[in-house]
Amino acid sequence: MEQISVISQIQARVQKARQEGKVISLVPTMGYFHEGHLSLMRYARKHSDLVLVSLFVNPTQFGPGEDFEAYPRDLERDKKLAQEQDVDILFTPGKEEMYLLNHLTYVRVDKLDKFLCGRSRPTHFQGVCTVVLKLFNICQPDFAVFGQKDWQQLIIIKKMVEDLNVGVKVVGHPIVREPDGLAMSSRNVYLSKEERKQAANIYQGLLLAKKLVEQGEVETSRIKERVQNFYQEQIPLGKLDYLEIVHPFELTSLERIEDKALMAVAMQVGKARLIDNLLLRGSLDV
Ligand code: PAJ
Repeated sequence: MEQISVISQIQARVQKARQEGKVISLVPTMGYFHEGHLSLMRYARKHSDLVLVSLFVNPTQFGPGEDFEAYPRDLERDKKLAQEQDVDILFTPGKEEMYLLNHLTYVRVDKLDKFLCGRSRPTHFQGVCTVVLKLFNICQPDFAVFGQKDWQQLIIIKKMVEDLNVGVKVVGHPIVREPDGLAMSSRNVYLSKEERKQAANIYQGLLLAKKLVEQGEVETSRIKERVQNFYQEQIPLGKLDYLEIVHPFELTSLERIEDKALMAVAMQVGKARLIDNLLLRGSLDV
């Protein structure tokens, strides 16, 4: 595996691969790899000839007072893990390489960035879209792989690609969980032992909602109330940011479950802001 930190070098490698007719994939990440990241890399490996993984803790997607500085980093460990997945190139640009000192351009997907996480993180998705579009332009992949854990991010990136005629196929990959159900996240390392134990119930709450739907409940207010009560009992250390039942692609809140429905949750547990989601009805084929 090669490690490249300079944009012009990546561009040269990609151009050569393109001339050779290779299928190129990209897995954008902020590093501190876990099985979720590795599953995306394995998907990319299986479906392409040249696998690029970018590792860049993107400052523009963190708001003031968020955890940009504290975000966990371990480049040596990440290099080893990426190598084990047979990644071809790990792209590790510095902040100055990615953003000119006089950077002025930001990409924003309207409306979709107002729901769910957008409410408490108003500039987050604009930072995500800007860096992802830059990575797409630099790496020119045929496809890029994103996790369904960050469901809103996936939907917003798909919309950006559609609206701006970006020639990259965006692939969504299922959520990878710990054995007790907690969605894997680089931020899970922030959790104390007790917080970690309670955090597993975030997923149990989503499963409870799914069970209620399977039993015939269609009123989302009743489902949300049951799950909120469950969270209060089972995760006393957690502070709920939102618990919503939305249309999976439009992200608008639903009052009744008639067709497709996705439950999404964000909760602050200690220093970690954790998110998760589960499809309550329908399929996630985008
Ligand atoms: P990061 O949080 O490092 O995640 C990188 C990719 O891994 C994202 O597509 C995310 O959805 C996916 N992922 C994280 N945890 C997962 C899990 N448990 N199961 C499956 N996939 C998982 O998301 C970002 O970085 C950034 O916003 C980025 C897109 C790189 C832009 O900076």
